Amino acid sequence: MEQKKILVTGGLGFIGSHTVVCLHEAGYKPVIIDNLHNSRIEVLLALEKLIGYSPDFIQGDVNDKALMSEIFKVHQPNAVIHFAAHKAVGESVEQPLMYYHNNVVGLVSLLEVMQNAGCKKLVFSSSCTVYGEPEQVPVKESTPTRPAASPYGATKQMGEVILKDNSWFEVQCLRYFNPVGAHESSLIGELPLGVPNNLIPYLTQTVAGIRPQLTVHGGDYNTPDGTCIRDYIHVMDLAEAHVAAIGRLFADKIAHSVELGDPSCNNFEVFNIGTGDGYSVLEVIAAFESATGEKVPHIIGPRRNGDVVAVWAETTKVNDVLGWKASRNLETMMRDAWNWQRAVS
Ligand code: UFG
Repeated sequence: MEQKKILVTGGLGFIGSHTVVCLHEAGYKPVIIDNLHNSRIEVLLALEKLIGYSPDFIQGDVNDKALMSEIFKVHQPNAVIHFAAHKAVGESVEQPLMYYHNNVVGLVSLLEVMQNAGCKKLVFSSSCTVYGEPEQVPVKESTPTRPAASPYGATKQMGEVILKDNSWFEVQCLRYFNPVGAHESSLIGELPLGVPNNLIPYLTQTVAGIRPQLTVHGGDYNTPDGTCIRDYIHVMDLAEAHVAAIGRLFADKIAHSVELGDPSCNNFEVFNIGTGDGYSVLEVIAAFESATGEKVPHIIGPRRNGDVVAVWAETTKVNDVLGWKASRNLETMMRDAWNWQRAVS
């Protein structure tokens, strides 16, 4: 059987690069487009080491319709995984138009090119941010979404609506929880530019001596230890979820409809991609210390604006329907994140 080609937009980014490795391991042929806005060309060399050849790479922007049309003509991908998007909550508040342009206009432009090329299959990167501050945890895929707390969140909600409304496409919409960790080889990982906003890169940079200390944003929340709770997921588990989603797009449609009990809604499926376990910031720090033997200098500071108190995933649907389950625990996430930090610093 001919190898299926998967176009991976943003394929040199954090989640994209790990997914490229998993796609290769599962027998697919990845084709990468990335504009290097938040990624580095060195990642391509690391991917070459990991998969044994240099994957097809086009430096360019998904908003460039002429280029995208050319890519579809030349490579004829069977499906697309669309990672290319901006993802910093704070930045989206400062530059909303940039977010709407890249994340929403870019998606529409990609869909138009796909439709012209006759390519229907898409895996879309959504986020648990669509749930906002949920009334009940864990959150299910059926939990009502809440008004977005940032332009970034709004772009993810809009992306979901756009895809749901366009039933010509077959979409797997993955709502990521908090991706952390790195490939166990330490050849690829997260490369935040400037001062990190997210907990794990800030923590590992602190332990590496790049930052003096970690500030825990708020110790007076209504949680067992007063700090916020999240569902941290190893980036390799997340990457494997994309392979499962791609597999489902190529699987028998009738089987899908039967499982879902509704043949009319099988063009758009949404899954929570988390572990199903919530950990507080202090539990994460403790897990890091126990996994690595390193101390994390930290203080409890004031709350951060816009933080949700507690959110973690209900994973029954993704386990049963997609047949995917996270397998790496918090200590493995911390160990791999720390090994990666040591490799880059
Ligand atoms: N935190 C700290 N100190 C830091 C950084 C983070 O205590 O220096 C805390 C946060 O307050 C939060 C937890 O660590 O309680 C996780 O924070 P992150 O910034 O790592 O992640 P978020 O949960 O805020 O954000 C993630 C994604 C976003 C997405 C959001 C949806 O990074 O893309 O989830 O809730 F929009």
